[in-house]
Amino acid sequence: MLAIIPALTACNVYREIQDGKIPNYEVGTQAGADACRECHEDQYDEWSIKSAHAIATVNRPFLDFKTKFTNVFAFNAMMGEEMCYACHGSKLVNEGVNCETCHGIALPNDEDFEKTHEIKYKPGLEKMRQADFCADCHNMNNPITGDLILSLSSEWERSNAGKNGITCQACHMKPRESDEAYHGFDSLSRNVEIYNDILEINDITMKFPEFEFTIVNKVSGHAIPASGPSRIMVMEISFRNAKGSEVYKVDHTFGKYFDLMPVFGIMPYKLKENTQLQSDEVRLVKITLPSSLQGKISELMIVMRFYDVSDDHQGDINKAHTISKPFFKKRIVL
Ligand code: HEC
Ligand code: HEC
Ligand code: HEC
Ligand code: HEC
Ligand code: HEC
Repeated sequence: MLAIIPALTACNVYREIQDGKIPNYEVGTQAGADACRECHEDQYDEWSIKSAHAIATVNRPFLDFKTKFTNVFAFNAMMGEEMCYACHGSKLVNEGVNCETCHGIALPNDEDFEKTHEIKYKPGLEKMRQADFCADCHNMNNPITGDLILSLSSEWERSNAGKNGITCQACHMKPRESDEAYHGFDSLSRNVEIYNDILEINDITMKFPEFEFTIVNKVSGHAIPASGPSRIMVMEISFRNAKGSEVYKVDHTFGKYFDLMPVFGIMPYKLKENTQLQSDEVRLVKITLPSSLQGKISELMIVMRFYDVSDDHQGDINKAHTISKPFFKKRIVL
């Protein structure tokens, strides 16, 4: 335990926050998203209705985990909840990652808003159009083991999209109704439709008792499930007889599993297993069926869902607090 404390004080994230590398909203006064609404209605509506950013300081998993974290005296003494708010948004206005978290405080040092807006926003958005801008929050490692807890930008760098310079913004902020950058940052919890065509199943073969197929991640930007320990993709495979009744079921999971930090027991510590489907990866899935099912299987149904396991950060799908609607379904007749 004693060895852990000095190591934690060297936490990268903490230092970056202190250095102001991660947006630090405590400088100046937050005006809140309402201050932008009257002139930037589209961005406001998309952000507030669709984006998980807008609830990042108020959703239950966040508040629950923050309570666990601040209840551990040593964590609290070293970093405290400010560490959480540095990425999740201002505690004062409590509206998650808002306009000002990304674009900068509207009222630094209580300057006149119109003057600030003129100087700050009008000169352009070049820096914010780089993937690095998202990476500041969407990548984080454990300071002691160095293992990546949040890994979106590392996954992106390795991917074809990353190698070809297709940014996060190009996919996630691609203009929709208007020609302005989309601010909905859609995610599973908000809009399952964005998950169309991201997976493909091929090479299905049944040589009883062996059943196998390949699954391909067609998201060219990062792994599925994306990033961290909070979400597991579950492939539910239901084997059915000629009458269509289920005779056997297998759950196959894809995700990142961690040992939790010794002593403290809440922080993801050491990567135990990583079964994320990497970008463009083709994975062979093999299932050995019980011999009693010989001649009894005529078709199968494959369904994919996301299980949100962020409460405990340990990848246990039985502890999921939300389970998505299926975003992929395939019926295979043998
Ligand atoms: C100030 C930190 C910060 C920045 C900068 C940031 N994000 Fe986020 N983002 C978050 C947090 C925190 C969440 C998690 C919200 C939650 O579920 O509590 C999130 C959630 C998301 C989600 C939804 C994920 C989900 O599980 O529902 C997407 C998509 C996303 N961000 C994309 C982006 C993109 C693209 C950029 C760059 C243009 C970006 N973010 C910049 C902090 C940030
Ligand atoms: C380096 C930035 C960063 C810091 C610091 C950070 N988070 Fe996050 N957090 C994120 C991002 C980004 C996501 C969205 C998932 C992703 O992109 O991998 C997220 C997701 C989460 C989730 C899952 C939300 C959901 O809807 O499932 C919880 C819970 C959470 N964070 C709690 C916390 C708490 C509590 C703290 C402080 C102890 C904290 N985070 C510190 C960036 C951060
Ligand atoms: C997660 C970070 C993030 C949040 C939150 C965010 N923006 Fe943006 N915004 C960006 C990025 C990145 C761009 C540039 C995108 C591009 O051009 O590809 C941008 C572009 C813009 C633009 C330029 C015009 C356009 O849409 O192309 C306006 C105006 C704007 N944002 C206003 C807002 C307002 C108002 C809010 C709050 C309701 C907000 N933004 C919230 C990241 C963010
Ligand atoms: C009184 C109206 C008004 C308010 C309030 C306002 N803006 Fe703007 N904003 C504008 C106008 C006008 C433009 C220029 C639009 C254009 O060039 O298409 C602009 C442009 C922008 C741009 C794009 C700059 C670029 O280079 O294209 C950003 C980013 C932006 N505003 C952010 C914000 C944020 C964040 C807030 C809230 C803190 C806000 N604005 C509040 C009127 C406003
Ligand atoms: C080629 C397009 C593409 C690029 C580039 C891309 N993404 Fe994604 N992103 C997607 C798709 C499609 C999904 C849904 C599949 C999934 O969960 O992996 C997604 C999912 C996500 C999620 C999780 C949403 C959820 O509901 O689980 C986050 C957070 C995210 N992306 C952030 C980023 C960030 C940050 C970058 C840049 C470092 C990035 N993305 C680059 C297409 C892209």
